[in-house]
Amino acid sequence: MLTVREAIQKRRSTRSFKPTPVPDEMILEMLEAARLAPSASNNQPWRFVVVTDAEEKKALRKICFNQSFIEDAGVDFVFCADPSSYSVESRRRRIQEAVDSGLISEGNLSDSTLQRYQEMAANEPDLPSLLTPLTANTYIAVEHMVLMATGLGLGSCWVGGISSYKDIRDMLQIPRGILVLGVLAVGYTNIEPKARPHHPLEKIMLRPFPA
Ligand SMILES: Cc1cc2nc3c(=O)[nH]c(=O)nc-3n(C[C@H](O)[C@H](O)[C@H](O)COP(=O)(O)O)c2cc1C
Repeated sequence: MLTVREAIQKRRSTRSFKPTPVPDEMILEMLEAARLAPSASNNQPWRFVVVTDAEEKKALRKICFNQSFIEDAGVDFVFCADPSSYSVESRRRRIQEAVDSGLISEGNLSDSTLQRYQEMAANEPDLPSLLTPLTANTYIAVEHMVLMATGLGLGSCWVGGISSYKDIRDMLQIPRGILVLGVLAVGYTNIEPKARPHHPLEKIMLRPFPA
């Protein structure tokens, strides 16, 4: 298993996979990596469908602008988000868990912060206001899966190029209300991808570090 640094440095988007199945144990390790991801207020909105069936992968490929690696991948994870993670009931439960786990008494969260959270959790949010938290928090979990895949010696590629989210929903019978956000293709790398140019540090720093 690679170190975190090695996995971050080695990771590339892989678009050429061997036709070798990915063992269930590895799929479960990637799902476990997602499960343990951080999320704002621990709301954990991410949901997944594991696609390993050849016909389903073929259909997914067609829906995703015919990107062939989606069919060739050993496994495609369709990642989704559940807006009910932000219902009044769910958020109240998460706040109570924070209290029960000692976040307050340890002094890490002040009483006034807790009160603010409780006020915010008093109303059902509308879907537009949830789109950013649903997406941002789910993406964190997916990147956990990407790094776990790299650590396990697998290649992966995020897929945002989707022609119809509805077609994915219908094909996989994803329950109404759950948002389909994207696909992560994972498998044994066939052709090692070249590193894509990533901006130098100076470009991404808005003020120099070290000063
Ligand atoms: C949200 C997201 C969506 C992406 N969608 C696609 C896609 O549909 N097809 C594809 O080939 N690559 C896709 N990529 C991969 C990017 O093109 C890739 O990460 C970028 O070019 C940098 O290359 P690297 O990942 O090898 O460092 C996506 C990446 C992200 C984060």
